[in-house]
Amino acid sequence: MRIDILTIFPEMFTGPFSHSIVKRALEKRLAEIHLHNIRDYATDKHRRVDDYPFGGGAGMVMMIEPIERCIEKLTSERSYDEVIFMTPDGDLLDQPLVNKLSVHKNLIILCGHYKGIDERIREHLITVELSIGNYVLSGGELPAALLADAIVRLIPGVLGDETSALSDSYQDGLLSPPVYTRPSDYKGWKVPDVLLSGHDKKIDEWRHEQALNRTRQRRPDLLD
Ligand code: ADE
Repeated sequence: MRIDILTIFPEMFTGPFSHSIVKRALEKRLAEIHLHNIRDYATDKHRRVDDYPFGGGAGMVMMIEPIERCIEKLTSERSYDEVIFMTPDGDLLDQPLVNKLSVHKNLIILCGHYKGIDERIREHLITVELSIGNYVLSGGELPAALLADAIVRLIPGVLGDETSALSDSYQDGLLSPPVYTRPSDYKGWKVPDVLLSGHDKKIDEWRHEQALNRTRQRRPDLLD
């Protein structure tokens, strides 16, 4: 899996991709993430990537040319399954969508900024528009990092325990059951007896029941 991220703030990704599971996936070469500074594709001497909106109004708009040149370069080198734009008015990201994206080979993720990007980029170059929630962030970088993380952890071999992605909340349409670790009794706060029983079938049944209860209480919409 190769992910190319187009951004005007490549430094914002250093943290999220240098730790934990994503870091390990990159080190094991199970995933490649390439960051591209859109400014490097600007054509004028000021390396300009934004301009005033036609028709007036507040805020700047990201220009077509630097973004198109960057996408053009990448697509001339290999074919891409999707060109994704992170935007608050995109389709709401959920686990089934992440699952679908995780089986692809090459993805481009474009991060927007300022007031937005020239609509013609969306019309002609973007294949999928995704939102991470009904709120507005200052740019697409955090959403892109979040999407890359959600995808990369599903790539076979990335998670140590091959089954653990399957038991994530949302994967089977249910929230995850509670988990506990040592000590079994902390100042009187006790771990449910069944988890200490060593009885695998009973433990599975208990976990399923807890997952159902939790989903019913917190996210009844998932059971519809
Ligand atoms: N850019 C700004 N806010 C966003 C959101 N909620 N989802 C995706 N991209 C965004």
